[in-house]
Amino acid sequence: MASVLVTGGAGYIGSHGVLRLARDGHEVVVVDNLVRGHREAIAAVERATGTRVELVEGDAGDRALVEGVLRRRGVRDVMHFAALAYVGESVERPLEYYRANTSAAIGLLEACEAAGVERFVFSSTCATYGEPAAVPIAETCPQSPISPYGRSKLMVERVLADVAESRRRAGGAFAYAALRYFNVAGCDRAGVVGEAHDPETHLVPIVLQAALGLRDRVTIFGTDYATPDGTCVRDYIHVEDLIDAHVRVLGALRGVEERAYNLGIGRGHSVREIVSAAERVTGRRVPVVEGPRRAGDPPRLFADPGKIRRELGWEARIRDLDEIIASAWNWLRAHPKGYA
Ligand SMILES: NC(=O)c1ccc[n+]([C@@H]2O[C@H](COP(=O)([O-])OP(=O)(O)OC[C@H]3O[C@@H](n4cnc5c(N)ncnc54)[C@H](O)[C@@H]3O)[C@@H](O)[C@H]2O)c1
Repeated sequence: MASVLVTGGAGYIGSHGVLRLARDGHEVVVVDNLVRGHREAIAAVERATGTRVELVEGDAGDRALVEGVLRRRGVRDVMHFAALAYVGESVERPLEYYRANTSAAIGLLEACEAAGVERFVFSSTCATYGEPAAVPIAETCPQSPISPYGRSKLMVERVLADVAESRRRAGGAFAYAALRYFNVAGCDRAGVVGEAHDPETHLVPIVLQAALGLRDRVTIFGTDYATPDGTCVRDYIHVEDLIDAHVRVLGALRGVEERAYNLGIGRGHSVREIVSAAERVTGRRVPVVEGPRRAGDPPRLFADPGKIRRELGWEARIRDLDEIIASAWNWLRAHPKGYA
């Protein structure tokens, strides 16, 4: 059986992808340089599924390394999750982001072209839209990112479009999808893999760490936005739903084609709603302090997920905020020190 290559498979979302593919009976090979990932996440998938998952420690942009892996494992399908993914850090260290996200994708695509990869699913982001004029955000919304992170991802979308066009002219096969995630949250509900970032920048685990006493408080950045309770509103999609969309999209890709889909649930929750839900789920108080707005934080961001529903019949199934937060809480309580 041909293997699926998962880049960044030792990270938060990638490890959920590896778990799902292994559960579905696929052979999986992971390339991850472990700058933000965990070898133990792969071991956890192996234990839970009774399958062997090869972890190749290296850079996704190392063309020779990746081409060797693709040929040896007969890979036709790639899910490319590997990236640096902190907006604030990208402003401070843009070159690292362009190298890890944009340059690495080019090396990876060179390897894919040389080894005959046919289907490619790319982790893009709603950050490619920047500060949209209106919500909900459809795929037709102009992409005008306001951070190096967003630009590093948008450039990859452009490169992919050019690669597909060149394949079309050459009469070869290359189908890809750019999946623009909104805020990914929650953990595998069976507790096999989870979210373990250091530093953690995502709201749900930060709030839960405060509930568990692992941090003193949560800072709410901005309480005077034009939203119902004054705090920022975002679209939280459960990581298992997100991965389910990847599987659906990969299965639909044929020949030479390009697809782009927003992945969100289509409604937003405010920061205060997340804090309240965390208090409900945990039965504990979450200490908060109110701080000033952060630069470049739009008041409301949520997806119009209609395109993937119309074209592939896919929509998020885990829509209850408490259920999303409970899955993250179960993971954190069992792994207060992450994979350590
Ligand atoms: N978490 C979110 O809410 C969110 C939202 C939008 C998009 N995304 C995208 O989803 C993907 C996964 O995000 P995540 O939250 O799981 O991040 P993560 O940091 O947990 O995982 C990224 C993984 O990629 C690896 N990696 C980074 N650069 C690499 C490189 N050049 N070569 C090989 N491995 C490399 C890291 O070691 C890590 O294991 C990223 O592409 C990110 O931009 C995430």
